[in-house]
Amino acid sequence: MTQPSNKALVPFVSVDNMMRLIHHVGIEQMLIDLANYVEDDFKRWEKFDKTPRVASHSEVGVIELMPTSDGEAYGFKYVNGHPKNTSEGLQTVTAFGLMADVYTGYPVLLTEMTILTALRTAATSAMVAKYLAPKGADTMAMIGNGAQSEFQSLAMKAICGITSVRLYDTDPAATAKCAANLASTGLDVVICKTPEQAIEGAQILTTCTADKQCATILTDNMVGAGVHINAIGGDCPGKTELAAGILTRSDVFVEFPPQTRIEGEIQQMAEDFPVTELWQVINGTKTGRTSDRQITLFDSVGFAIEDFSALRYIRDRIKDSDFFFELDMLADPDDPRDLFGMVQRAAQ
Ligand SMILES: NC(=O)c1ccc[n+]([C@@H]2O[C@H](COP(=O)([O-])OP(=O)(O)OC[C@H]3O[C@@H](n4cnc5c(N)ncnc54)[C@H](O)[C@@H]3O)[C@@H](O)[C@H]2O)c1
Repeated sequence: MTQPSNKALVPFVSVDNMMRLIHHVGIEQMLIDLANYVEDDFKRWEKFDKTPRVASHSEVGVIELMPTSDGEAYGFKYVNGHPKNTSEGLQTVTAFGLMADVYTGYPVLLTEMTILTALRTAATSAMVAKYLAPKGADTMAMIGNGAQSEFQSLAMKAICGITSVRLYDTDPAATAKCAANLASTGLDVVICKTPEQAIEGAQILTTCTADKQCATILTDNMVGAGVHINAIGGDCPGKTELAAGILTRSDVFVEFPPQTRIEGEIQQMAEDFPVTELWQVINGTKTGRTSDRQITLFDSVGFAIEDFSALRYIRDRIKDSDFFFELDMLADPDDPRDLFGMVQRAAQ
């Protein structure tokens, strides 16, 4: 067997290595680091190619490609969303991603992104809450206690300083799992029997449920003045979590309006429903929270630039480390135009 040349090899971060890296860095530190990478990329938003993600829908779920480039690096994520999967012993969301060098077009990183998506989604939520949540917020309601929920809770602790999380899920087993996982994290964890109980005394309301329909996780009368809503689960056409009345009473902040108008909570509203683009709040050209009584709403759908930031973080972080191995992924003929000859000689 011929040995691949260096040019053929692409660093690959397996699930095992991603988990080793998280334990090496520390999960809260990693969430903080990722949030900084996402924030830096939101500050240079105008440099990026932007397009709504390319979605392939079926009766049971969606498969999406999420590409972007800052002119120097290119990144994309493959991700699915299948709410029925957990009843079949599979996850709702799985993902992997790739980063490439724009100058050569050669990939420079391939990585698992199921775990990395949970980290980047949580880091983004908390980075946004840092700008929008009421000052001194210390309690979060966490509605939907599935795969994303512990990551969301820990990011809000590490980045926004919440000390208490109030859990609710229609499936008590999911809540018990989340509570057990968070038991040794320093968060005060309260198990709640209803969504109304979960939001009691909470200044940050996170909804992170999975259902392939327009659900009403929060009704209009549940949301009082002064809270910040972090709406994660409504991220597909026909899949929302909030009563429309909440949107009309809130200031709504979004990642990339052309994608959010298709996929987010605001799909329920008119096409010209006013929204503020988060990157403008982060670079100081638009205001975020302006009063104690204002309801702020992050209508999160997950945008390609957040995945780019996560890929950029992993690319930088694994340099000179053993948190990856090299995949023989690119054919590399001695003469770049003799691809056929390379195949032919492999028979000898
Ligand atoms: N915005 C983003 O960037 C982003 C990123 C990742 C995932 N998501 C979305 O977040 C959602 C959750 O993802 P996950 O990986 O945690 O899924 P999951 O299937 O692991 O967990 C979802 C949980 O929601 C619960 N649930 C369903 N309906 C409910 C209801 N009416 N009230 C309370 N709980 C309810 C389920 O019992 C389950 O425990 C999905 O819809 C996913 O598409 C969004």
